[in-house]
Amino acid sequence: MVKPIGVFDSGVGGTSIWKEVAKMLPHESTIYLADSANAPYGEKSKEEILQLSIKNTEFLLNQGCKLIVVACNTATTNAIDYLREHFQVPFIGIEPAIKPAALQTQTKKVGILATKGTLSSSLFSNTSKLYAEGITVLEQEGKGLVKLIESGDIKSEEMKTLLNQFLEPMLEQNIDCLVLGCTHYPYLIPILRELLPPNITIIDSGEAVARQTKAVLEQNNLMTQENNAPSHIFYSNKDVAVLEQLVNSPSAQISYLDF
Ligand code: SIN
Repeated sequence: MVKPIGVFDSGVGGTSIWKEVAKMLPHESTIYLADSANAPYGEKSKEEILQLSIKNTEFLLNQGCKLIVVACNTATTNAIDYLREHFQVPFIGIEPAIKPAALQTQTKKVGILATKGTLSSSLFSNTSKLYAEGITVLEQEGKGLVKLIESGDIKSEEMKTLLNQFLEPMLEQNIDCLVLGCTHYPYLIPILRELLPPNITIIDSGEAVARQTKAVLEQNNLMTQENNAPSHIFYSNKDVAVLEQLVNSPSAQISYLDF
């Protein structure tokens, strides 16, 4: 039996990661779980984020998944250590891309846009300490952005107003790299490109996560054979319209599930 890769997120944002994984691993089947009924995770307590992450993991393991991508920065930074300790399959997490930003910045100032849950986590502060020595990391909570993306209001005036408000203090401090520390935010790149000066590099983790997923499958001898015709199943516990719009793939089977 061909075992799928499991992917979960607090909602639709992790599909930005799923797309990179499906592109890099075209023979692998996937099951994606969008816990949109509980989004956003970023404003919940660590304990709540942990319990939801455990529930999502158990669901995907019951579906026979061989590896789980925690396609949510907030769930990664708050729960991945626990998940790795308590479940047998390999886990791939989304760590904020501070390291590539620290390597690229010329002004020695980088901005990070992420949820409160990510910015307050010890994994985030350890990553910053480890990789951003001598670099100023300007943290900005993206309060309200996930809710708007979950409702499909990606290009609304409200979104632009919020983003302008969040970007201004970082731009005043002369950042030249902006790290997207939430898997929902890559869907904002077209608007961010309109709002940001052209010298600012936007960094997200999608491709790096897909590379890491491939490496871990290889190390664990879990790669599917190249003659497999993959299936891509998506479940959401909320209206699936936004999920359908963002996944935008004819091979995806998307349905509502009360989990
Ligand atoms: C959220 O649910 O608040 C955002 C998910 C993320 O951090 O990627």
